[in-house]
Amino acid sequence: MHTQVNNITIGYSDQGTGLPIVFLHAFPLNRTMWVPQARPLSLHFRIITIDLRGHGESDAPLWRYTLEQSAGDVSALLGHLEIRRALFVGLSMGGYILFAFYRKYAARVKGLILADTKAQADTEEGRNGRFQLAQIAYKKGPSAIADVMVPKLLSPATIQTSPDLVQQVRAMIEGSQISGIAGDLMAMAERPDSVPLLSRITCPTQIIVGELDQPTPPSDAKLMADHIPNVRLAILPNAAHLSNLEQPEAFNQIVSAFALNLEK
Ligand code: MLT
Repeated sequence: MHTQVNNITIGYSDQGTGLPIVFLHAFPLNRTMWVPQARPLSLHFRIITIDLRGHGESDAPLWRYTLEQSAGDVSALLGHLEIRRALFVGLSMGGYILFAFYRKYAARVKGLILADTKAQADTEEGRNGRFQLAQIAYKKGPSAIADVMVPKLLSPATIQTSPDLVQQVRAMIEGSQISGIAGDLMAMAERPDSVPLLSRITCPTQIIVGELDQPTPPSDAKLMADHIPNVRLAILPNAAHLSNLEQPEAFNQIVSAFALNLEK
């Protein structure tokens, strides 16, 4: 499905009925990374997955944008869908966007699931790394980005034993537009430090992290858990950064239990 919000086309899926659960994907993927969640969870809940600006079937503006704008797109889409409050799940960049969303629209957040993400802003080294990655995207295209990203997103065991999953992740990256890849890199490099926000997150919050996650390791998850008042932390064995794809059953079980509890 598609709609126009904030002067761009946004692609999304909306399946099932019940408590709305809104899923925000990682960089540089798209809403199809949530297929293993959307099908089973839509038997009990209303599952909305969104192609963030720059990805999938959404427009990739040839212009600088911010994660606040991505959060604004999510808010506008929820307005279009007549959803006032929801449970939000954000993985990695999706989590960064949830911090921006919470700053502006806390009243719309019934609960938060922060997966494989972190609250700190980029370091100087991290920002330089994003600039280099944008250069690779411009010069060599998305498949060179896939070469760099896949070993960061998936565990060595997954890469060795699950060629289909590796191919699925590569295909998402290779389908990304260069302006979306570079736009995200700039937006992530500019994002503010969200550590001061953590103690002000008052809704029930679940943190999930793969024990082997390198870009946002369990120490980043523990930092968030130390500051958010009403929080639980789950560390998933045998999962790296894309824990929802590497351990979908365990991931879904946590989302489902948390959502059922929110409904009480
Ligand atoms: C992601 O998975 O969204 C990215 O690894 C996040 C980042 O580069 O900071």
